[in-house]
Amino acid sequence: MIKIEKLYKRYKKISALQGLDLHIHRGSFFGLLGPNGAGKTTTVKILTTLVRPDAGRAVINGFDVVKEPASAKMEIGVVQQSINLDMELTAKENLFIHGLLYRMPYKAIKKAGEEMLSFVDLENSADMPVKTFSGGMKRKLMIARALMHKPEVVFLDEPTAGLDAKTRRKLWIILKKINQNGATILLTTHYIEEAESLCSEVGIVDFGKLIALDSPKNLIQSAGHIVVDEMTEKEIKSHFFLSRREASLFVERLKGSALVREANLEDVFLKLTGRRVSP
Ligand SMILES: Nc1ncnc2c1ncn2[C@@H]1O[C@H](COP(=O)(O)OP(=O)(O)OP(=O)(O)O)[C@@H](O)[C@H]1O
Ligand SMILES: [Mg+2]
Repeated sequence: MIKIEKLYKRYKKISALQGLDLHIHRGSFFGLLGPNGAGKTTTVKILTTLVRPDAGRAVINGFDVVKEPASAKMEIGVVQQSINLDMELTAKENLFIHGLLYRMPYKAIKKAGEEMLSFVDLENSADMPVKTFSGGMKRKLMIARALMHKPEVVFLDEPTAGLDAKTRRKLWIILKKINQNGATILLTTHYIEEAESLCSEVGIVDFGKLIALDSPKNLIQSAGHIVVDEMTEKEIKSHFFLSRREASLFVERLKGSALVREANLEDVFLKLTGRRVSP
């Protein structure tokens, strides 16, 4: 379980987190969404003990990330936003070093390494240097590495950024399996359809604060699940309605052209943050 209470973090003049509160239940597949600069990576870095908060508390499975970082670290696996593999080493060697850092016995490292490479479909590339890998293969290897020590909580900061649609969907299957195997997942993403299809619960952050928290379905319902896109000369303006009937009445009164459609999580995101998603 992840408990975040009144978390604050400032970088010189920039307030990255301004009192973030968040509880994530054990076994949840949680999506952390928000515009660029909202504070998602800062949150992940604090939870994974890489950055110290200025104030507030973050606890993972009972371990305070500031007071008991070593214990908290044993509970978690992390796939950072930036690729931080050793490019000169092979896939297998990258996993081996991770196992050593986690003080796993040699035999356990070997076994987990083979299991994880096969889990992410990289067993045939185990002995290739990572510098020869495609973007998708690197992301898969980062996921394999994060799972080596069998963490209960897995953080993934934009694990599918820049990947093609097919590779992204392959990674979704891997992420779903991790969750089905019992791990709690916190995922950040700019692909809203990714959060919609994977996450049981979604939190939207903006300016370092939580502004919405619910299941994707409930968020869409509460925003108004029917959208009318009004096409004006300058822009497309979206209007939200609780029923198709209300939407139709509105369209009848409109002068220009309009499109009536089902709302999606991106609409909720836009309505709440006033900004488009920018991968
Ligand atoms: N090391 C740093 N030094 C100075 N400012 C920083 C640092 N890290 C983050 N920030 C600032 O803190 C704010 C939050 O950044 P953060 O990386 O947490 O956002 P994010 O939600 O992950 O954004 P993105 O979607 O672009 O990855 C931003 O304004 C960013 O410029
Ligand atoms: Mg980020």
